[in-house]
Amino acid sequence: MTDLLIRNATLPDGRTGIDVLVAHGRIVNVARNINAAAGLTIDAEAQLLAPPFVDAHFHMDSTLTYGTPRVNQSGTLLEGIALWGELKPQLTQESIVARALAYCDWAVTKGLLAIRSHVDVGDPSLRAVEALLHVRECVKPYLDLQLVAFPQDGLLRSPGALDNLKRALAMGVDVVGGIPHCERTSADGAESVKLLCELAAKEARLVDMHCDETDDPQSRHVETLAFHAQRLGLQQRVTGSHLTSMHSMDNDYVAKLIPLMADAGVNAIANPLINITLQGRRDTYPKRRGMTRVPELMAAGIDVAFGHDCVMDPWYALGSGDMLEVAAMGLHVAQMTSQAGMRACFEAVTVNAAKILQLDGYGIAAGNRADFVLLQAGDPIDAIRRRATRLKVFRAGKVIAETPPSIAKLHVPGRPESVAL
Ligand code: FE2
Repeated sequence: MTDLLIRNATLPDGRTGIDVLVAHGRIVNVARNINAAAGLTIDAEAQLLAPPFVDAHFHMDSTLTYGTPRVNQSGTLLEGIALWGELKPQLTQESIVARALAYCDWAVTKGLLAIRSHVDVGDPSLRAVEALLHVRECVKPYLDLQLVAFPQDGLLRSPGALDNLKRALAMGVDVVGGIPHCERTSADGAESVKLLCELAAKEARLVDMHCDETDDPQSRHVETLAFHAQRLGLQQRVTGSHLTSMHSMDNDYVAKLIPLMADAGVNAIANPLINITLQGRRDTYPKRRGMTRVPELMAAGIDVAFGHDCVMDPWYALGSGDMLEVAAMGLHVAQMTSQAGMRACFEAVTVNAAKILQLDGYGIAAGNRADFVLLQAGDPIDAIRRRATRLKVFRAGKVIAETPPSIAKLHVPGRPESVAL
């Protein structure tokens, strides 16, 4: 007898009436009318069974610190960085671990089972690195946490940052990070990109840099990132995060840049909730949207994911680990309102992000780990529209979180007694 059989599910690609059979934590069959018995059979009632949500860009060392030591008054990225600088010396390893674990609890209830988190390596004690490495082990049974060594205050600008970053990698951090637009000069920014890509090539690491997170159209480090990705043969292994300056760049320059990125196999991550609030703060009216050119990057064949970036920290007061909220904001900011556009936004928080993280065995197909989410929705667009309730979250074939269906009672004469939300 197998462990689990899901009956009558709808998959994100539109297939309906699908059964999913699981044995020993793995999917063994995905088909209509599977003839098998299982320890647990669940009727999906034609609702959406999706692979888990994946957050391609997050900061778990700062999450849930909102208001300490004070609130970001200007709402800008730079005040957020300054505030984080004030907060960092006050953090203990225990407090970072406790907050990160609390956030992972939220994530699991929302069906978010893989997160790429940057971790600040600016502090020579590497307290946050130690804390998040510990958290990565704690959550391993139920959530894949991938860590990026992130020199928040600049690789060349901040004394000791390169050494700290290398030590973080040696301790077990997975990915090489960077922040070229925060170096002292554009030349230093370009040099940091070169150094970090060469380090990643030497150590066979993935790269994910905060890149051009500014409204300045002259911030063009993504061009250098694409150049070194191509030069070093790092295609599909290098990601530019944020890329907000692209929003303000000249169209003629972007017409050259996007094909260069596609040629170099550079991935892109937009963080719609955060950059719609952080960017454009010096504009009067019209105010720019602070998001990179998502549909144009996708049309060029570039893998584009959406990240949550921040939840209740010096940069963002809100958030709950709900990647459907992220997808909805990305959809609105990029005006991706066609059927194909809305489906692409769902993919930006699932399959596209999984590809960028290079997750092994992701997706609802035979042979993969039995990780999936049953949603109170008919399809991916319906899921975004309703920020659909995650009825059941499965990890390796076991239910690890459940939320009752969202149904409101209605007390209006002549109308139904309840409404599904
Ligand atoms: Fe970020």
